[in-house]
Amino acid sequence: MTSNKHLYRYLTEKIKKSGKLQFSEFMNETLYNLDLGYYTNKEKIFGKEGDFVTTPVISSLFGECLSEEFINISHSLKEPSILEFGGGDASLLISMLKKLQKQNCLPGKYIIVEISPRLIELQKKNIKKEIPELLNLVEWRNNLDEVSIDGLIIANEFFDSLPTERFKYDGNNFLMSYITESDDNLKEVWDKITDEQNKELEIAIGARNKVFPKNYVSELNMEYKKWVQRINKSINNGVIMIIDYGYNSQEYFLDDRMEGTLVCIHNHQSHFDPLINIGRQDISSFVNFSHLSNLAVKNDFLVDGYLSQSSSLLNLGILEIYENKEYESDQKVMELNKLKNILLPNTMGEIFKILVLKKNINKKLLSTKEFNYTHKL
Ligand SMILES: C[S@@+](CC[C@H](N)C(=O)[O-])C[C@H]1O[C@@H](n2cnc3c(N)ncnc32)[C@H](O)[C@@H]1O
Repeated sequence: MTSNKHLYRYLTEKIKKSGKLQFSEFMNETLYNLDLGYYTNKEKIFGKEGDFVTTPVISSLFGECLSEEFINISHSLKEPSILEFGGGDASLLISMLKKLQKQNCLPGKYIIVEISPRLIELQKKNIKKEIPELLNLVEWRNNLDEVSIDGLIIANEFFDSLPTERFKYDGNNFLMSYITESDDNLKEVWDKITDEQNKELEIAIGARNKVFPKNYVSELNMEYKKWVQRINKSINNGVIMIIDYGYNSQEYFLDDRMEGTLVCIHNHQSHFDPLINIGRQDISSFVNFSHLSNLAVKNDFLVDGYLSQSSSLLNLGILEIYENKEYESDQKVMELNKLKNILLPNTMGEIFKILVLKKNINKKLLSTKEFNYTHKL
């Protein structure tokens, strides 16, 4: 596997001009450069022939469960809608709208906030194939400007894909990662932390005192703050569900996690080197849910719950939905295997968490009713 030559050349030219790129800038270009980035240019990303699968791609039961929460809150809202960050291949949208159509509870509109024109095309194609009659409910935006909604906001595997910074503790000071080049090779170098980054690191660590071991490397995502503020501006009344792989800050910054949480994936194989396969591999970092929750509180959201994915889906009745569905011949066994993949602790059930935030809504939620460990944030 080699890098995308054009993107590699573009990056080295850019570095020659400015000397170095912040790690987040490098990650942003490799993933989202409009012409050459991984999400904007790669032919197949999701599914067996792509690089990875996400929960909605694995099974429609996931979207059917989230629909239960939408139905639950929609009774207390005037014109309830759904907004999804990063629509992927539209699997989540399709499973939710199919279910909500059957239940006679369609949203006023379903907004997808998506940065990749190529993925927007894929989403449109898949929606036209599966539910052409509902295409007119769907709106695409590439940011939250001028979006104003009441309803349910969902971010599944969105925050992990936001360009992050990496920091290192050298025993005395925190340093930040930059990417530079020499003899046309990319390499990581470390430079001083800014005041703004230092402040954000305090929010990411939270109330607990933390002494990092020497040469400890981890991630600090400066994008979280912007997105939490933007969501606050866009949602009037409703619920936000952030679902992703991640930890609270105590687990995130475990002493033993000396190399951080950054992970690259290509063809269903993961590794930890972001400087290879440029433009051909995904790069992501685990989500620091304490950091997100601390920012949410600063922005006057109510933190309603922090649970494992499996607990939340069980609260939403995933087993009953599975049992009551009609399947053809051996489909039920196949679906059971998918269910295990989503729920069991050794697969996606525990490593994936859900953070549920509320704004101006009193309704008791289904997804957080039991097994809630908000106190661990
Ligand atoms: C890992 S994929 C997850 C896709 C989908 N949510 C799923 O679970 O299958 C990340 C998605 O977020 C989109 N994305 C990443 N950064 C974005 C941004 N700043 N604005 C809008 N979409 C973004 C990507 O293009 C992609 O659709």
